[in-house]
Amino acid sequence: MPVTVFAGTGYYVPDRVVTNEELTQYMDTSDEWIVERTGITERRWVSDGMSGAEMARRASVMALEAAEMRADEIDAIVLATLSPDHFFPGTGVFLQRELGLGTVPALDIRAQCSGFVYGLSVADAWIRSGQFRNVLLVGVEIQSTGIDVSTRGRDIAVLFGDGAGAAVLTATEDADRGVLSTRIHSDGRHAEVLWAEAASSRKNPRISKEDIEAGRHYPTMEGRDVFKHAVTRMPEAVLEVLSAHGLEPSDIDLLIPHQANLRISQMVQRRLGLPDEKVFNNIQSYGNTTAATIPIALAEAVRAGRLGRGDLLALVAFGSGFTWGASLIRW
Ligand code: UT7
Repeated sequence: MPVTVFAGTGYYVPDRVVTNEELTQYMDTSDEWIVERTGITERRWVSDGMSGAEMARRASVMALEAAEMRADEIDAIVLATLSPDHFFPGTGVFLQRELGLGTVPALDIRAQCSGFVYGLSVADAWIRSGQFRNVLLVGVEIQSTGIDVSTRGRDIAVLFGDGAGAAVLTATEDADRGVLSTRIHSDGRHAEVLWAEAASSRKNPRISKEDIEAGRHYPTMEGRDVFKHAVTRMPEAVLEVLSAHGLEPSDIDLLIPHQANLRISQMVQRRLGLPDEKVFNNIQSYGNTTAATIPIALAEAVRAGRLGRGDLLALVAFGSGFTWGASLIRW
C-alpha cells in the first residue's frame, strides 16, 4: 500500500508588514500588551486587491519547485481556508484554474485553524487508497479585510495575519517514512465561542445595514475559553497520534503547533515536556494566519534545516468550531 510523503513545501506572505506600533494608531493597544499576551511583534496584511487564490498560487509554485514537479502532475487539490475569496465557488477552483490544472478536482476544507490537518487527513487517505498519487494541499487566509481594526475588535485584530502555505504530497512505496497517522476532532457545542455571525444564509438579505453597524460581520471570540480548550486539546491530540504507534513525546524531533498565540504553543510544549529546539514557532513575525500557519511554518522549518530524513514530525492544531487534530510524520 502506498504511503504519503511531503515532496515539497512552499509559502507566500504579503509584503506589507504591520507592526504592533502601527496598530496603536488604529486602536487602544500597545506593543507591550501584544508581545506579553501573544508573543506577536508583527504580521502581514494584503494590499492592492491581492486574492487568496493568488497567494495560494504563489505558495503552490514554490512547493512544486521544491518537489521538482510540474503543475500538470498534480491529481487533486485540497485547499483549507475560513476566508474564501467568495461565498462560492471555493478558492480551490480559482487556484486550479490559475495553475492550469485541466479538470483535476479541487476540494475546499472549512475547519478554520485546523484546516491544514483536516486537509492532510483527506489527502493522505486519497493517496493511501490509491485514488490519487500527487495531491496539492494548501492553507490560505486573508484575515485583514475581515477584522475590526478599532478598539472594539482589538482582542482579535492584533492576533491575525494573512498568508499562504502549500505542500505537494505524493505516494511512495518506501516503508520507512511518510505520514504515520492523522487524527481529527470537533465539538460544535462551542461553535459560537469563536465565529463570525454575519453574513448568514439564515437571513434574507444575508447581511443588513444593522449587522454592519453592530459589527456582526466581524469575528468575535471568548479568548480565555479558546485558550483553555486549546492548551488541553492540543497535547491530547499529539498524545493520541503518538500512542497509535507506541511512541512517546520524547520521540518527537520537531513539533509544529498551530500558531494561535505563543503562550499557547509554550504551554503545549511544556505539557509534552519538549525542549525549545524541538518546537518551531514563527507567530512572532506572522501572527495567526489560521489554516496557513502550519504549512508556512513547515516550509520555513524545512528551509531552516530543522527537518532531516527519518525525523519524527508532529503537527497539531486547534481552532474555531471547535476543531482540532494532530498528525505524525516520519520525514
Ligand atoms: O486559533 C484559535 C484562535 N484564537 C486563539 O487561540 C485565542 C486564544 N486566546 C488568547 O490568545 C487570549 O485570550 C487573548 C490574547 C485573545 C487575550 O488575552 P487574555 O490574557 O486572555 O486577556 P483578556 O481577554 O482576559 O483581557 C484582559 C484585558 C481586558 O481588559 P480589562 O477587562 O481587564 O480591563 C481586555 O479588554 O486586556 C484587554 N485587551 C487588550 N488590551 C490591549 C484585550 N485585547 C487587548 C489589546 N490591547 N489588543
